[in-house]
Amino acid sequence: MKKYFIFLFSVIVIALSGFVRTPQQKSSDEIIAERVDSVLSLMTLEEKIGQLNQLSYGIGWGPTVKVSVPDEYKDLIREGKIGSFLNAIGAEFTYELQKIAVQESRLKIPLIFGLDVIHGFKTIFPIPLGEAATWQPEIVEMSAHYQAIEAASAGIHWTFSPMVDIARDPRWGRIMEGSGEDPYLGSVMAAAHVRGYQGDLSDLNIIACVKHYAGYGGAEGGRDYNTVDISERTFRDIYLTPYKAGMEAGAHTLMASFNEIGGVPSSGSKYLLNDILRDEWGFKGFVVSDWNSIGELINHGYASDLKHAGEISLNAGLDMDMESRSYITHLKDLVDEGKVDEDVIDESVRRILRVKFLLGLFDDPFRYCNKEREEKNIMTKETKIASLEVAKRSFVLLKNEKNILPLKKDYKKIAVIGPLANSKEDPIGGWGGMGDSADVVTVLKGFKNYVDKKTEILYSEGCKVDDKSTTGFKDAIKIAKKSDVIILCLGENRDLSGEACSRSTLDLPGMQEELAKELLKTGKPIVVVLMNGRPLSINWLNENVNAILETWFAGTMTGDAIAKVLFGDYNPSGKLPVTFPRTVGQVPLYYNHKNTGRPGDLNNHYTSKYLDLPLTPLYPFGYGLSYTSFAYDDFKLSSNKITNEDSIIVSVKVKNTGNYDGEEVVQMYVQDLVGSVTRPVKELKGFKKIMLKRGEEKSIYFTIKEKDLKFTAADMKFKSEPGLFKVYVGTNSVDVIESQFELVE
Ligand code: NOJ
Repeated sequence: MKKYFIFLFSVIVIALSGFVRTPQQKSSDEIIAERVDSVLSLMTLEEKIGQLNQLSYGIGWGPTVKVSVPDEYKDLIREGKIGSFLNAIGAEFTYELQKIAVQESRLKIPLIFGLDVIHGFKTIFPIPLGEAATWQPEIVEMSAHYQAIEAASAGIHWTFSPMVDIARDPRWGRIMEGSGEDPYLGSVMAAAHVRGYQGDLSDLNIIACVKHYAGYGGAEGGRDYNTVDISERTFRDIYLTPYKAGMEAGAHTLMASFNEIGGVPSSGSKYLLNDILRDEWGFKGFVVSDWNSIGELINHGYASDLKHAGEISLNAGLDMDMESRSYITHLKDLVDEGKVDEDVIDESVRRILRVKFLLGLFDDPFRYCNKEREEKNIMTKETKIASLEVAKRSFVLLKNEKNILPLKKDYKKIAVIGPLANSKEDPIGGWGGMGDSADVVTVLKGFKNYVDKKTEILYSEGCKVDDKSTTGFKDAIKIAKKSDVIILCLGENRDLSGEACSRSTLDLPGMQEELAKELLKTGKPIVVVLMNGRPLSINWLNENVNAILETWFAGTMTGDAIAKVLFGDYNPSGKLPVTFPRTVGQVPLYYNHKNTGRPGDLNNHYTSKYLDLPLTPLYPFGYGLSYTSFAYDDFKLSSNKITNEDSIIVSVKVKNTGNYDGEEVVQMYVQDLVGSVTRPVKELKGFKKIMLKRGEEKSIYFTIKEKDLKFTAADMKFKSEPGLFKVYVGTNSVDVIESQFELVE
């Protein structure tokens, strides 16, 4: 009997050990959840609401800045009425604020500091559209990693990046902040950014914030903040995909967007913030509003006043209020009136505290506030080299007639002309963080750095980007005549793209095209260097100048990167992440469109086309030249049938047939020929960037699985459908070779 009891006792102990675990056996998630709950249990309702409040406090950055915290902020922090600041920058300044929070507030809960580190903190990297043009996620991850080091060293815990909004309309100025028009490329880049920023959450990493959820890039007419109305299917298959990819890569926060979609502003949408984000996708992080986007529910006509707006947003699942002060002002009353349940507030607070724990701020609130580290880590040689590397890889060669590029090294005189040739401001681009124009290498400087004494560099501005004056033409023509080649730097100012910078035309602003026309008359070869935050309709340049290099806004190292690429030290390898239309009238123009019942045919009147335009874009998605050439051959599928269980291997041989070593982005697209709903004419499903030495050939393989063929079908389920598919492989979305396979049940 005694033996039996001992046996039974052992069984019970063993069984229970599966449930009752020692702290060592608990997962870190569970430990954090317990710690969060222990803090929450001590908090008053007012303190909880304080955690949901984020305010902006800007201060200039730099060692010389005198730190001073205004009394209003000091009091709010002491009273536990602020959970986060944005725009408070610098190890010393964030230290001052954090000290008040953890020494003078009742519960000593640390603050979290956020900032828009979009493509660099102090060392500026290419704009995100340019980063996407690398088609190299590992390079984008590296870029985000270096940006994180600088920001973290300056006291920042959290960046409001990546922006993953799909943009099919280049009039929308924020197209520069994203990865372009394609959900697959956009998803790969979203994940790369998140990995790069967050890393393993060391004190040199920062938390990512996927934004702007959702569909912000679908603004009608490309006008920023405008209404978005997209079908549920397109919304899910095209627009939502990169946000989900960002979540799956581990982003701990997300920003709700300004826009309404289908009649409901995102910042008050339970469907978006709760049903899709949390119930469908299982997102565990917290959601921050965009700047006053809760308050803007009033203008949308969705809330009667700020109190009503707060009620809607909080109940919809929006955790942190950026700058509208709706939560801090009204949530307590809303709870007292029974319009908001304290449990809902508790959930939001839990999500925010969890991220503060993940960042290690409860263990060491000053983890990111180290002045020496800040001085050591900002604008290091290594970071500048990283920026240079990303810049070179982001450039897209759009034209290279008679192989004028790479430039000959024995030119005696080179004319560097144009409003962007010696601009120190513009290469920083929109959302330049703390980037300082004094640090920027201009194109002129880059050329001077590059050439030896035998080559003279002449400079003339020619005209401004955006005014009507032509008085500078004379000087530009004069130096052009004396030179062997003209490097003509044209495009947009940095403030022509970015937030609230929509344009109604995609043409070169001002007198820039006229300047190019005058310079053409000199008979000298012209190489155009473009800087811009959006696709431009540069038809005349495309037809008339000898070469065009798209450089976007390439950041601090712009001039060195451009000189190295134009002289051939680096062979351009970027590809367009977005279609370049011939004219704004073609917009929206994107490669993954539907076929329509009457596909465009210039010889057939009653087809889908414009009477006054070719059917094609100026440059298609995925386009980009190299100084060398590549030939595609031996395109094979491992089988012409695929089932739910197996996969098809797509193989192709790519050979470098030109005179230079170079990189090629091999792109694979798929077309579902017949569906329960109509399907795009092509969808990018894979790409590989490969290096090929002159004369070298490599076999490239892609795998297609049934899951890659899924879409939102007629029954609104995300699934594949049996039938025929085309698969295309090539150097861009148009110049492809094709084959076919069947998905069988
Ligand atoms: C408004 C912008 O839409 C958003 O992208 C940014 O993060 C916030 N302002 C904060 O600066």
